[in-house]
Amino acid sequence: MNKPIGTEAQNLARGAARYPGAPSTQEIIASDRVKAPGWVCSESYEFLGDEDISTDRYTEVAYAEREFERLWPHTWQFACREEHIPEVGDYHVYDIGRHSFIVTRVAANEVRAYYNACLHRGTKLRASGTEGNTTEFKCSFHGWSWNLDGSQKELLCPWDFPHVDIATNKLPQVRVELLGGFVFINMDPDAPTLADYIGPAAMAHIREWKLEDRYIYCHVAKRLPANWKLSIAAFMEAYHVLDTHPQVSVTNADANSQYDVYGEHVNRFISPLGVLSPHHYGKYTEQDIMDQFTLGDSSALGDATRTLPEGGTARQAMADMFRGMFEKATNTDLGGVSDAELLDCFSYTLFPNIFLFPGISLPMVYRFRPDPRDHRWTLYEVLFLRPVPLDGKRPYPAEPVRLTDEQSFTEAEGMDPGFGAILDQDTDNLILQQEGIEASAKRGLTLGNYQEIRIRHFERAVDRYVGTKG
Ligand code: FES
Ligand SMILES: [Fe+2]
Repeated sequence: MNKPIGTEAQNLARGAARYPGAPSTQEIIASDRVKAPGWVCSESYEFLGDEDISTDRYTEVAYAEREFERLWPHTWQFACREEHIPEVGDYHVYDIGRHSFIVTRVAANEVRAYYNACLHRGTKLRASGTEGNTTEFKCSFHGWSWNLDGSQKELLCPWDFPHVDIATNKLPQVRVELLGGFVFINMDPDAPTLADYIGPAAMAHIREWKLEDRYIYCHVAKRLPANWKLSIAAFMEAYHVLDTHPQVSVTNADANSQYDVYGEHVNRFISPLGVLSPHHYGKYTEQDIMDQFTLGDSSALGDATRTLPEGGTARQAMADMFRGMFEKATNTDLGGVSDAELLDCFSYTLFPNIFLFPGISLPMVYRFRPDPRDHRWTLYEVLFLRPVPLDGKRPYPAEPVRLTDEQSFTEAEGMDPGFGAILDQDTDNLILQQEGIEASAKRGLTLGNYQEIRIRHFERAVDRYVGTKG
């Protein structure tokens, strides 16, 4: 295998080198028959330095504590989808570390989030992991209760609490904003608005996706065996595809994927599919790519559709095939949807812990939260989204399938087994990485200037919130 080395001039302009001799992601997309929209056809890379990333952030309990003080209370976080709380009185408990919130719909157009703690002696008003519908939040301990709007409803034996004014003893709130069907919260009253936090460029992308018109058809939760930041970073680059996921590397432009950063809190990659990895140039034909791409799907696709016409490309054939399959499956017209949106992996990170995949073929959301009991573990969830059916009736969001630490993702009901196998491969690496970092003589991680820019961008934001020491 040729080791890609930039020219001298490229190496001088640090971060400017790309895999030599391979088309860029934009060049691949520009050759497609159905052209891509503006949010696809743009680049936003920035060189952000090349120093090592310190590893105490992954290994020290004290660092995790600082994150709970300095990072989590000041960032916008995805607490639930609006579809989890469609009716007035619906509520959903969202936890981040020791923090816990009751997210509830108090009116048709108003969602609030309350600190999930009784104002008497602190008992959680609703158990973590629960949701439901109610007209009041009543404490199980001594029965103090609050109305949906947060005003106090009842206080047992008020004669004993002349120092408590029921009229003002309201449940404290945190900020709530809604975007694309997601309910975001922020504990910091001085934090920027969600739109300012995301920034205008990325906001324009998000608005185009219309994720509010999707529903959760599969939701899988599992702990990952590494610090939450390592778990997140494992999904930020396609550099690992060749060695970690060899089964997909033939059909993926891994080494010529595109990486972008937007302001302080958003980054993305575009990883084109249906094209040969530059690592494999000269080893496979277009028909081989097609065969590899459709492996395991022969019953659904049929042999005739899998044979490429003379001069045809696997990418175009796959895009055409996907278009037909998805139109049939979702009873929608995808005529205006580009080939890139149908085929490619678009992965956006909203700092600190959300990945949005707005593509058509695998629309997903990842959420990563630190396990509050052990900084070496991550609470990971994947939510698969589908368009709301044309009749407009929104199905109930899928209940989470919770896997044990020992279970394979392939055992999760509703998840594509091939995709589950990929997540298992990532999980196996995470065990080795967490343990290796703890065992290492080296106290830093070394990153590629381009392919690992999302990790540097992410860790730079972590540094900004958490600080280095003290
Ligand atoms: S702790 Fe809630 S009513 Fe006493
Ligand atoms: Fe992976």
